Amino acid sequence: MSKTKPRTYTLTEDSTGKSWKLPVTSGTLGPDVIDVRKLYADTGCFTYDPGFTSTGSCESKITYIDGDEGVLLYRGYPIEQLAEKSDFMEVCYLLLRGELPTAEQKTRFEMDITYHTMVQEQMQMFLRGFRRDAHPMAVMCGMVGALSAFYHDSTDINNPRHRMVSSYRMIAKMPTIAALAYKYTIGQPYVYPKNTLNYAENFLHMLFSTPCEEYKIDPVLAKAMDIILILHADHEQNASTSTVRLAGSSGANPFACISAGIASLWGPAHGGANEAVLNMLAEIGDPKNTKKFVNKAKDKNDSFRLMGFGHRVYKNFDPRSRVMQKACHSVLKKLGGKNEPLLDIALELEQIALKDDYFISKKLYPNVDFYSGIIFKAMGIPTSMFTVLFAVARTVGWVSQWNEMIEDPSQKIGRPRQIYTGEAQRDYVAVGKRVSTPVKAKSKAKK
Ligand code: CMC
Repeated sequence: MSKTKPRTYTLTEDSTGKSWKLPVTSGTLGPDVIDVRKLYADTGCFTYDPGFTSTGSCESKITYIDGDEGVLLYRGYPIEQLAEKSDFMEVCYLLLRGELPTAEQKTRFEMDITYHTMVQEQMQMFLRGFRRDAHPMAVMCGMVGALSAFYHDSTDINNPRHRMVSSYRMIAKMPTIAALAYKYTIGQPYVYPKNTLNYAENFLHMLFSTPCEEYKIDPVLAKAMDIILILHADHEQNASTSTVRLAGSSGANPFACISAGIASLWGPAHGGANEAVLNMLAEIGDPKNTKKFVNKAKDKNDSFRLMGFGHRVYKNFDPRSRVMQKACHSVLKKLGGKNEPLLDIALELEQIALKDDYFISKKLYPNVDFYSGIIFKAMGIPTSMFTVLFAVARTVGWVSQWNEMIEDPSQKIGRPRQIYTGEAQRDYVAVGKRVSTPVKAKSKAKK
C-alpha cells in the first residue's frame, strides 16, 4: 500500500485567498503524487491534463519505469537481468503472480499454458469471414473479442478462478491466433500448436511450418524471439494498458478488454511504430538518403517523424533498445548478413540523429521498436505482422494489469472530465430558418 506522508501542498485561490491542503502520497520508487481525489468536491474545479502527462491513474505493483535514468523493472527485477537470465514463461509468471516461480511452480505453469494453446475449432469458421487481405491486427481485434463468445465459461470477473483461466487462455492462445491470422492472409493451412516446444519455438513453428514441411527451429532465432517477448511483456500505464484498464473498469469481460487494448496498440505512435520503422527504412532506401529524411523530421512544416525515435517516458535512453540492439546483431550474424542494407540505413540514421542538436535537445533516442522491426524482418516475418507480435508479448502485461485492477478495492469506473468549449445552451432552429455556416478547418493531427 502507498503511504500518505505528513507532507501536503497548499492550493491558494489568488482572488479570494481561500486555500486547500492537498495530501502527498508516495510509492516505493518514483516521484511523490499530489492526491487530488477530493479537489472537485472541495474547490469546484477539475484538473486539466490532456495526454495524462502529469496524472497517475492507478496504484500498481507490477512495473516501474524511471524515464530519466533509463530504468525498467518488472516486479522489481531489472529488464536487462530478466532478458539475460530468465525466459518468457518465467516472466509471465512473475508479472501475473508477483514472484519468480520455484522450479515446481514453473513446470506447472508451463504445462497450464501449453494445454491451453489450441483454439476452439469453430473459430476457424469465424476467421474465414474476414477478407483475405485484412490487416492481421484487424483480425486480432476481432478474434480476441470473439473469444468471449467461445469461452463464456471464464467471463465472470468476480470469480478469481474465471479470471485466472481467462488470463491463461489469452496468454496461451494469442500466438495461435496470431499464426492463424498470418496463415489465413497468405492462403496456407493453419498449423496446430506443438506441446513439445516452448512458447517462442511453438510460435515460430506455427508461423513457418506447413503440413508438407516442418520448420527447423534455429535456437538463435528462438532465443531472440524469447527476448523480444520479455522486453515487450509490460510497460506500466501506456496507451493500450490504460485502455484495457479503462474498458475493464466498467466490468466488461477480459476478452473484450484485451481486444480494446489490441486496437489501441495498433496506432503508429504506440505498437504500430515497429511496422512504421520498416516502412520508413524502405522509403529511405539507401544510407546516402538518410540526411534528407533527418532534415524532414526536423522541419516544423513537415509532419514526418523519425519512426522508432522518442518516447513519452524515456528521456535518456530506452533500456530495452540496448538489449534489442545486441539481439539484432546476433540474429543478423546468424542469418549471414541477410537484410543488412536495412540495418545499414538504421545504423546511419541512429548515428546522425544521436549527434544532431534537434534530437539531443528534445531527448529523442532510439526506442525498442527501432530494432525489433529489423529483427522481425530478418526472421522472415512480414511487416504487417510486427504489431501482432507486440500484442502477443504484451498480453501478459495487459492481463496482469487487468487482474490487479479488478482486485483493487479502490477501483472505480474510469470517467475523466473535460473542459467544454462548445456552444453555450441555445434554442432549436426549424430547418427552413437555418442559415449555412462555414465548416471550420481542423488543425492537422499529430502523427
Ligand atoms: N521525430 C521527430 N521529431 C519528434 C519525434 C520524432 N520521432 N518525436 C517527437 N518529436 C518532437 C515533436 O515534434 C515535438 O517537437 P516540438 O516540441 O518542437 O513541438 C517534441 O519532439 C516532443 O514531441 P511530443 O509528440 O510532444 O512527445 P510525446 O512524448 O507526446 O511523444 C512519441 C512520444 C513516442 C509519440 C513520439 O516521440 C513519436 O511520435 N515517436 C515516433 C513513433 C514511435 O517510435 N513510437 C514508439 C514508441 S515506443 C513503443 C511503445 O512503448 O509503444
